[in-house]
Order: sequence, then structure tokens, then C-alpha cells
Amino acid sequence: MFPVTFYLGAATIALVAVYLKFFYRRRRKDEPVSVPGHFIWGNGAAFAENAVEFIHNATAKFGSVFNIRLLHQHLTIINDPHSYEQFCKQSNFDFDPIQKQVNNNVFSFQLFDARQMIKEAGKKVKGKYMVANMQSFSKHLDATFEESVTEGGQGINEWCEDGLRSMASKTMFRAIFRSIFGRERPGDVFEPIKVYKSFDTFHKYFNFLWLGLPIKLFPSACRALEVLIQQPNSCDIMSRDDVSEYIKFSTNFMLEHGQSETDIIGHNLVFLHVNYNTFRVSFWLIYFLTQYEEARKELLAEITELVKEKAEYSETDGPVEITLEDVERMQVLDSFVKETIRYTSGVFMVRSVTKDTYFEKESGEEVLIRAGDRVAIYPPAIHKDPEIFENPLQFKADRFIDATFTKNGREVKNPLMAFGSLCPGKKLAITQAKWYLLNLVYKFDFKIEDGQTCEPDVHYHGHEILPPTNDVKILYKRKENVRPLELVNV
Ligand code: HEM
Repeated sequence: MFPVTFYLGAATIALVAVYLKFFYRRRRKDEPVSVPGHFIWGNGAAFAENAVEFIHNATAKFGSVFNIRLLHQHLTIINDPHSYEQFCKQSNFDFDPIQKQVNNNVFSFQLFDARQMIKEAGKKVKGKYMVANMQSFSKHLDATFEESVTEGGQGINEWCEDGLRSMASKTMFRAIFRSIFGRERPGDVFEPIKVYKSFDTFHKYFNFLWLGLPIKLFPSACRALEVLIQQPNSCDIMSRDDVSEYIKFSTNFMLEHGQSETDIIGHNLVFLHVNYNTFRVSFWLIYFLTQYEEARKELLAEITELVKEKAEYSETDGPVEITLEDVERMQVLDSFVKETIRYTSGVFMVRSVTKDTYFEKESGEEVLIRAGDRVAIYPPAIHKDPEIFENPLQFKADRFIDATFTKNGREVKNPLMAFGSLCPGKKLAITQAKWYLLNLVYKFDFKIEDGQTCEPDVHYHGHEILPPTNDVKILYKRKENVRPLELVNV
């Protein structure tokens, strides 16, 4: 038998070894300054409390490039909008390990030949496929708007009362879900509202899971995941005639590469997870509409003018036909959606550093970024930079109309970075958001119960679009005698 002191000594040595390997580091020549933090979780607490404030303060003290540590992950932050293009081009900055980290740590699966799969599958939400996706989405949206006003048993033009999250889930999330997987069958657990509710719970733990904490530590996340994995098998989903091209392609690709049904389920969840962001955007679109009456009037004027113009070319007793080009021309709508995304985005653009890399700062000075670390641009810190966006903490619906943005006297080429450089769904997500907003404003009256407000919850920084701090109650009603709109492809 060894004395207790032996075990204590061994445990201390093991802890010190772990600490030195994962937490402690000595700054090398040319490396950026490390922001001082807690000896165990590094800058995690300050980042979780308010990431934008933390990054702005660090920039003021240490300049635009500095190192932080989130638990055991060392990250170089590049807080400079002019470095965006160079960051995206740098071949030593690799997104694959990040995408693997999400698949593995959060959704418990691995994608074989991931780069090829994402490259090919990504095409199924772009170009002509984007148009097909939009047409499917718009048909489902008509149906979900209808369901949302009738499923409470009231008449079609009566006021409905609901939580705003619930209302957005019944309309936007349900339409997105069906445009991806087709319409659910009676008795399916994998149906949009159950999936929305389970995701809502599951997402609360996303950041912890992403960092590698085991899901077993979070019983609510385990229970939510139990529901989310109850999906029809791939054969069943593929037999639906209204399933999206993305799911058809990804499922076939995974089957051909010998992946299991469990892997396919995991991948379906990742795909829903990225699409869930568009639902979150829809929450904020409605919320800001109810808060900024003037902006809502301007938007309605722009929509009414378009509908009037297009009505002249449509059958008198049929729907008014609108094309995607028409939607793209709408400047007020475009600005409203972009400003909503600017205001509520919370995402990191993060890459894994494959080799020691000298990165040139805007000043011309070079900093060394260490192999094995992570390197990131943090779009929300740029979106809330007062030198780029005047009064950045204010929602300004027309901010993006005919606007250019500058920093240090030079134009910022990519002022809205919420989609990173790699998101294949950017155009689809923005177009879905626009179509949703256009229809909502044109067809519905709505208001938030007096005095109720909410804010993007800064504790969820790291999520693509931030959830609200709390829900608010919405009253909404279909307007009478409004002509139906149809999204057409000409
Ligand atoms: C408001 C909605 C959305 C936001 C804010 C968003 C944001 C992002 C961001 C920040 C990334 C990481 C990109 C980078 O670091 O360069 C990403 C990746 C990705 N997004 Fe989106 N996204 C949205 C909607 C969508 C939609 C609708 C789809 C699919 C239809 C999609 C598919 C993907 C995929 C597949 C990736 C991984 C790309 C890769 O591994 O190369 N996203 N998204």
C-alpha cells in the first residue's frame, strides 16, 4: 500500500502537467499579446458575459490582433474589417476541423470526405436550386401562415394571440422544415414544432458541447436530443416527393460512402441547425417591425407599390406574380433584413491554424500565429464598431440603403460578415427572410402586447444569430381583401 501523500503527489503532478500542456503558454517572439485572464478558464467568463464589449476593450488596450484563451482553446482574434479578405484567402487557416468539431462534439457523428460533400451539397442551395428551394418554401409559407391563424379554432380574419417565438416557429420554422424534409406524416415525432421545441432546449448547451464538454453533463440536452434523433429512416425520407435536393444529395452521398443511418440523422440535424438561424432572423424581423413604426410604414409603401405595379401584369382574379428579381430590387426590404442581421448576429468566423503563419496587420506589421491554435474574426465586434457604423447599438432600418462604410479612412468591403465567407446558404437565407417579411407586412396586422420588450441575449455569443433575452406576446390578424402573392420563376 502506498501512503495517501503518494497519491496526492501523483495527482498534483498530473494536474500541473495538464495545466502546462493545455492552459499555460509562453509568448514567442512576434506573437500577439495574450489578454490576461483566469488561470483555468482564461478569458471564458469575460467572453461569455459580453463578448463584444470584451473584444472592444481588448482592442483598445492591445491593438487589433491579440490572443485569448477559452478554457483550453487558444485563439488569435483579428479585430480588423480590412483583414477580412486576407483572412479568408490564407490557406493555413482551415475551416474543416471546426466543422468536424461541431459534427463530432455537438451532433456525435463524422462526415466521410466532408470537403467534397459540403462542396457538392452546397451547390444544391445555390443558383437554379436556390430558386427551386424558394418556390417550395413560399408554397409552404402560404400554408403555414394559414395554419397559424386557423389552428386555434378562430376565424381566418380574427386576432390571434401567441408568444412571438411560437408564432415565428409555426410560420417560418415550419415552412423551412417542410421545404427541406417535405411535409411530415401523421404520427411523425420528426415534425417541425416538436423539432423546434427540442432544438430550442438543445441550443442552450451548444457552446458547452462545442467546446467538448460531454452531453451527459446536461440532462435537458440529452432529453432534447432523444427527441431530435427520432427521424424516419433515409429510405422513408427519400421516398417523399417534396424532399429538397440538398437532402437527396447528402443522403445519397453518405449512403454511397458507407455511412450509417445514425450518421445521416446527425447530418440532418446539422443541416436543420444551420437553417434554424433563418428562423431566428424571422423572430427579430417581426420584433423590430413592431418597435419601429416609421420603418414599417416605409416597408409597406415599398411593398404596396411593387404589388400595384405587378398586379397590372397578372390575371385579375389570380395571385399577383412576383419574381426573385423584383424582391432583390427592393431597397427598403433589403436594408431592413441586413440591419436585423447586423444587429443580432453573434457568430465567430473561426479557423484552425495548420502551420505557423505570419499575418500582416493593416499597419503593415506582421504577427506570428501559432500552428495548432485557432484564429478568428468576430463579426459582431465589427458590426458594433462605432467607427464603422454610426450609433451601432441603435437599430436603424435604412442603414444599408445606398450606404458605404469606412474605417481608418478606407472603405470596408464586407461590412456585413454574419455569414462568414463559406456559408453556402447565405443567399437562400436572406431571400427567405425577405419573402417572409414581405408577406407578413403585406398580409398581416400585428402588434406586441403593450410595453413588452426584449434584446438579443449576449450570453449566447458564438451562435450565428442570437436568441432573445425573453419572449414577448404578439397579437396578429390576417388583413381582409388582400390579393394572394405568388413567387414565380421567369
Ligand atoms: C441567417 C442564416 C444563416 C447564418 C447567419 C449563417 C452563418 C454561417 C456561418 C457564420 C458559417 C461559417 C462560415 C465561415 O466561418 O466562413 C456558416 C457555415 C455554413 N452554413 Fe450557414 N448560415 C445561415 C443559414 C444557412 C442556410 C439556410 C444554409 C443551408 C441552406 C447554411 C449552410 C451552411 C453550411 C453547409 C455551412 C458549412 C460550410 C463549410 O463547411 O464550408 N447556412 N453559416
